[in-house]
Amino acid sequence: MKNVWTRPIGELVMANPIVANYKKMWPFVKPYWFRAALSLLLTLPAGALDSAIALFMKSFTDDVLVAKNAKFATFIPLLIVGFVFVQSSLTYAVKYLNTWVGGKITIDLRKKLFHKLMTMHTGYFDTTNSGYIMMRYNNDADASSTGLIENLRKMVTRTCSAIALICVLLYNSWQLTLIAVGAFALAGGLIFIVRKSLEDLVRKTVVVGAVAMRAYNEAFNGNRTIAAYNLQKDQETRFAELMNNIFSLNMGIVKHTGWLSPVMHFIVSLGLALVFWLSSSLIVKGTITSGNFTSFVTALLLLYHPVKSMGDTYIAIKTAFLAIERIFEIFSLPVKVEDSPNAVALTQVKKEIRFEQVNFSYKPDVPVLKDLNLTVPVGSTLALVGNSGGGKSTVVSLLPRFYDVTEGKITIDGTDIRDLTLHSLRDHIAVVFQDNFLFSGTLRDNILIGRPGASEQDLMRAVKSAHLEDFIGSLKDGLDTEIGERGMTLSGGQRQRVAIARAFIRNADIVILDEATSALDNKSEAVVQRALDNLMKNRTVFVIAHRLSTVVNADKIVVLNEGQVVEEGTHKQLLAIPNGAYAALYNAQFKKKE
Ligand SMILES: Nc1ncnc2c1ncn2[C@@H]1O[C@H](COP(=O)(O)OP(=O)(O)OP(=O)(O)O)[C@@H](O)[C@H]1O
Ligand SMILES: [Mg+2]
Repeated sequence: MKNVWTRPIGELVMANPIVANYKKMWPFVKPYWFRAALSLLLTLPAGALDSAIALFMKSFTDDVLVAKNAKFATFIPLLIVGFVFVQSSLTYAVKYLNTWVGGKITIDLRKKLFHKLMTMHTGYFDTTNSGYIMMRYNNDADASSTGLIENLRKMVTRTCSAIALICVLLYNSWQLTLIAVGAFALAGGLIFIVRKSLEDLVRKTVVVGAVAMRAYNEAFNGNRTIAAYNLQKDQETRFAELMNNIFSLNMGIVKHTGWLSPVMHFIVSLGLALVFWLSSSLIVKGTITSGNFTSFVTALLLLYHPVKSMGDTYIAIKTAFLAIERIFEIFSLPVKVEDSPNAVALTQVKKEIRFEQVNFSYKPDVPVLKDLNLTVPVGSTLALVGNSGGGKSTVVSLLPRFYDVTEGKITIDGTDIRDLTLHSLRDHIAVVFQDNFLFSGTLRDNILIGRPGASEQDLMRAVKSAHLEDFIGSLKDGLDTEIGERGMTLSGGQRQRVAIARAFIRNADIVILDEATSALDNKSEAVVQRALDNLMKNRTVFVIAHRLSTVVNADKIVVLNEGQVVEEGTHKQLLAIPNGAYAALYNAQFKKKE
């Protein structure tokens, strides 16, 4: 095995986590490298100018205070003002450039993260905490770019300033420098002690932070359920626990790091005491002048600030690195559903859709669909009925590839759907769910989602077919009515008809209806059903319904229980099976109605 001493320097440098993190970030910095480099370059003199003031102190003390030479009294103040002016201007320029570069990189990172989010498969959303998504996708981008650049600037300024000040120290007295630098080195070394415990704590803080975001999210989206079940107290208690948790973690960070500053301060003061003690004898012996001493102490005092804040800057850079790690973890997440390398576009469904020996499980070892075989000729309607949890929704979610089959295959005209481009496949499918997501915006926006750029004529036809005409006519702003976030200002039946209009305008070959009428009363169901009948005309349809009245006309009905087909045939054929599963379902509903 290669050890540290035999590994080439380059490899060692690359293995360093700091370098590795900067390397990862490089593609994002690259487009703005010039401004980033310029700002870094401007940082160097800005940091070093502190030492000029310390240096002036020698001449001032020796020539003015001791030798009583008044010439300096006009010359030095002017120089100081000049230097400070240059330093302030540089600081401003650097701050501006850094904010610009950091802001640009944050935006690029967020865009790329959002793109990643958009390509993720349905399963990722099933199992990922929404608060986590908001935190990581939004906050980490900022923490990793602006946080990193700003703190890198601070680190460079402070290092430059420290090096220049140490030169001033050395210029004045190497003996005193030894003591001072020793004290600072000791103080600086403390940072490494807190490093490890800090990392763990920062990680934990991010996790509970994400849970807190989820709590807000659930409070918002679940507000009606919370009200209906009187869950307010319960939610508050859980939230309070979470807050206490965050508090303890923050206190943990302070406990592990808060002692750092005072202890550093103490060590540095000890060094200072030692300097005073030693310098008395050096001055008396004539080894150094009074000017050397004042200049030394000034430099030492000025040195304290950059050295002390290097600890904080180090922690901030560490936090930025953790954010970078989390971001690149997201970038490297596998996308489970994507185009195969030689995928072809689906142009038209000509013959049939087949499920061949399809097995599927959401979680390993928990089979949901078992050896499923279905053939759906183009233009026909297949109805799926059966027990709740039997796998009906799962069957239809495999067709647009929300999930990929675990075993077996689904084909369209003989081509495995995994060999079709995802975009073209989904372009040929229109889905109406039980609970359809409406976006904030107008009714028109929400319907046009089905086919952006559709003509006004098509839009009106979709509205008419979805039986939305009367409703829209009754609105002051008609199609341009804003419907609020998630369409909460509409009734359940209206939301469903908007979704049907959206599916309608899509004009897709394949239509999937998953419990599209189940939430409605008989009267509105009749309206929605008529809308659905329009939608189903001349298309290949997969329909799932608990109310069997909606499926009696299907070309084929499949009864699915526990992920297996137990019966299939037309309504008539299935009713004829003595003690059949479908007959039992049908009789149960039929009798209830009577
Ligand atoms: N996203 C998911 N992750 C894990 N398991 C799931 C997921 N969705 C459904 N399941 C499980 O898969 C099984 C089949 O669910 P599915 O939704 O397909 O049933 P269904 O026949 O549509 O039921 P229902 O008539 O109640 O809508 C159930 O046991 C369910 O718990
Ligand atoms: Mg279902």
